[in-house]
Formats: sequence, C-alpha cells, structure tokens
Amino acid sequence: MLLVGVTRETAPGERRVALVPAHISLLTKAGLGVLVEAGAGAAAGFRDEEYTEKGAEVAPSREEVFGGAQLLLQVRTPGANRANGDADLPLFGSQHVVIGFADPLDAFDSAAALASRGTTCLAVELVPRITRAQSMDALSSMATVGGYKAVLLAASALSRMFPMLTTAAGTLMPARVLVIGAGVAGLQAIAVARRLGGRVEAYDVRPAVKEQIESLGAKFVELPLEATAAEDKSGYATAQDESFYRRQQELLARTVASSDAVISTAVVPGKRAPVLITRDMVSAMAAGSVIVDLAAERGGNCELTKADETVVVEGVTIFGPTNLAASVPYHASQMYSKNLVTFVQHLVRKGELLLDPEDEITRETLVTHNGAVVHPRIRALLGLSEAVEVKG
Ligand code: NAI
Repeated sequence: MLLVGVTRETAPGERRVALVPAHISLLTKAGLGVLVEAGAGAAAGFRDEEYTEKGAEVAPSREEVFGGAQLLLQVRTPGANRANGDADLPLFGSQHVVIGFADPLDAFDSAAALASRGTTCLAVELVPRITRAQSMDALSSMATVGGYKAVLLAASALSRMFPMLTTAAGTLMPARVLVIGAGVAGLQAIAVARRLGGRVEAYDVRPAVKEQIESLGAKFVELPLEATAAEDKSGYATAQDESFYRRQQELLARTVASSDAVISTAVVPGKRAPVLITRDMVSAMAAGSVIVDLAAERGGNCELTKADETVVVEGVTIFGPTNLAASVPYHASQMYSKNLVTFVQHLVRKGELLLDPEDEITRETLVTHNGAVVHPRIRALLGLSEAVEVKG
C-alpha cells in the first residue's frame, strides 16, 4: 500500500503541519496509508493520539517516516526551509515524491539537490490558477490567513483604536487604513479592517479589482497612472519599470501620509517586490502609525522593512513578517492540509500514484522527476537549456 508520510516541520518558527487528523480518512478512502512523525502536529494543536484515532500510524522518528513512506507531505520542503531543510537531503531517495512549498523560483539549487537524490518534487506555489485547481491553491489559503493576521498585528500596535466611538468622553475618529495590493491577502485585510471598524482605502495596479475593493466597503484609491498590461493570463500582476514605481510613490505619498495603518501586499511572482513606500513617505506619517509589510519576504514594499524584524522610525512601527500563516497554525494547517489532500486525490488512481505529464496541474507543479529538474522555468534559472521529456 502506498504510504503517505508527514514529518514535523523543522524551519525556525514554523508551527504548521501538512496534514491534520480530520483529513486522514480522505486518504485512507483513496486506498493510502498514513505515517506521521511523532509530534508533527503538536505546534499546531494536533496531538499524536488524534492522528492514531483517525487511522494513521505514528512513527517515533523522522527516519522511520522517510524509510516507510513514498509520498511525503511537508509544509516546507528543503527549498522553502533554508535554515534546516538540507538536513533532510540524505533521507530523500528515488522512491520519494514530496509535495509542499519549495520556493522553486528562488531556491532552484534545492531543486537541483532533490533531483540529484532522484526525488520527485511537486511545488504547491506552481499550482495553476484554473478553476479545477482552486481547492489545491495553498498560496491563496495562506494569503487569506496572512491578510487576516496582518490587520490584527496593525491594530494591536497602533496608538489608536480602529472603530469610531461616540462616548461620554468624546468622539474617537476611526483609524484610517490603507491596503496596497488587493490580491487574496489584501482583500482579506480589507474585510478584517472593515469588521474592526476602520475606514479603509485600497489600491492595486490591476484595475479589475476596483469592484472587489468597493464590494467590501472600502474606497478604491484612483491614481492617474496606467500600468502597461497590468495583469498576465493567470491573473497575476506584471512587473512595471522603475519610472512607473517612482510615479506610483509620488501619487501614493499623500494617502500614505494620512493613513494610520498601511498593509502592503504588492508582489509580482518571481520578482523583487516593488518599493512603493520610501523613507520620506514614512517620515510624513504620524507618530504611532503602523506599516505591516507582507511583501517582506520578497524585499518589502517599504524601503525600511527588514524581514522578520520590527523597525521603528520616527515613531512609525514597520513590521516585516514573512510567515504570518504560521502564527495561526491551527486554521492555517487545516486549510493547507485540505489543499494538499485534494492535490493527492488528484494524483492517485486506485491507490497508485499517477504522474500524468499531460495533466496541466501535474505538469505545472512538477519541479524534479527521474533525477532531473524538469520544470522549464527552473531549468532556465539553472542554466539548463534543453527541455527534458517527462514520463509518468
Ligand atoms: P499576489 O500575492 O501575487 O500580489 C498581491 C497583489 O499585489 C495583487 O493583487 C497585485 O496585482 C498587486 N500588485 C502588484 N504590484 C503592485 C503595485 N505596484 N501596486 C499595487 N498593487 C500591486 O496576488 P494574489 O493574491 O495571488 O492575487 C492576484 C490575482 O489572482 C487576484 O485577482 C486573485 O483573485 C487571483 N487569483 C485567482 C485564483 C484562481 O483563479 N484560482 C487563485 C488565487 C488568486
């Protein structure tokens, strides 16, 4: 029987787990067994007994999971676990297929290392944005959690309250919140900030989101600025040139200066995040204001952001969290686990793993296979020119 293995996450601060007990039955119904490393779910609030009660076997050591399982589910495969991922490399072999975050467009050296072990790796970041893959889209799930938590972070650090209050001690004006980048995380941030009573404005380069921003009760910030081909065929923003971003900074300056909390989420896949908030723009904000820069992992939308640090400049607090999803580990794991299990269900036929290169979801996510890096974009990044044929 094909065994699915779940390991304890080893990246610093990572509290999520790739499979939650409630989803085990979905795998066993598909004819698979489940082997979980002891303590794998502990940081997310799932005890070993819950896994065994739902039909999984708990292995005392990591080595036993790698030794017994063929299909490994991880939150962070070595590519997305720069600090400790390499420690697993000797455990990976040609019998393994690993699914998880792999940071494939940045950590292509890790892809090459997994390929040299003969391991097949499917990166969830590459799940295509097509309707039938929506329930496998882990990036969107984690962005939802990140957008939610970013607002809570801003609210708890802000020197003001979010809602408007009319009290015997006078009237308090609502916090002014600006969301830059209204993708999945940004839209969630708008919704949460509105629920807390903030007065919310939002901006995105893709004009198509104006309606979505307004439907959540926020005001769309109109800038006299038109991006060239703002959106690619997958719905992602495209990179603009430096003069565009400079103009955007100028036009956003006044809105940023009058905001109490700024949540920025503007990214372009595979590129450094555009700098949209300069040091001068931060100086113009009132002391006690807050910026939560969700683009910190890609360099940040604010010039002063430091990844995973809190910086205070002229009384303005700037957060650069890179893994907010891990700070809500129970629900983030639940969503991620559902994404992965749906992915596995898609790949398994009659209890056997079937990697069909004709299938768009498999083809787009397959990074390594049969000892080679097979994904064309990652091959190009590694300087490997010729395409390799993928056989299932
Ligand atoms: P993302 O995480 O790639 O980027 C965040 C947001 O920043 C995007 O909305 C992007 O347009 C914006 N942005 C980029 N550069 C900017 C700039 N200079 N100034 C202001 N904003 C900037 O985006 P995410 O969350 O992945 O969503 C992008 C789009 O894809 C959305 O329309 C979303 O609804 C759609 N989507 C579709 C899915 C599907 O069809 N299965 C799944 C997930 C998202």
